[in-house]
Amino acid sequence: MKKKKLILEAELSKTDPRVKMLMVKIKKENYRPDALIEILHTAQNSFGYLPMNVLRFISKEMKVPPSRIYSTVTFYHFFSLKSKGEHTCLVCTGTACYVKGAQNILDEIEKEFSLKPGQVTADNKFGVQTARCIGACGLAPAVVMDDEVLAKAKAEDIKKIINSRIGAGV
Ligand code: FES
Repeated sequence: MKKKKLILEAELSKTDPRVKMLMVKIKKENYRPDALIEILHTAQNSFGYLPMNVLRFISKEMKVPPSRIYSTVTFYHFFSLKSKGEHTCLVCTGTACYVKGAQNILDEIEKEFSLKPGQVTADNKFGVQTARCIGACGLAPAVVMDDEVLAKAKAEDIKKIINSRIGAGV
């Protein structure tokens, strides 16, 4: 539990493709505060939910007070401040990743853990999510396991990684 907290509160890495993509979006919107909802959508699509460090990053970059960001996120039901599951596997299903086999990864996860995207195990240990594009198309198919971006992911390897993280053995 402590480990998860540390992950959530860690500073965002500038090398994280999701952060780069978020920055591109913020610049494209010319740092306009009225584009906040759109930017939050981009962030949620990439991260699967809106972690606090991401909200802080958006606040700093856009010079929008954290209180305004927080009230916007909590006002709209489609935004989520919590990840689904203690461990999360986010599979990118954007075009590049889809073409390179993202669906195989999702099928394998469903077969092994009986989970479809958006679902979480009964013990809340593991959840699976999808994103439209996390900004790492050159690494397709890309998967984010907890906060780690995995490049050219293979279904079998992802299954092993998930099993080792949730303590089910490999
Ligand atoms: S489509 Fe998957 S990272 Fe862009």
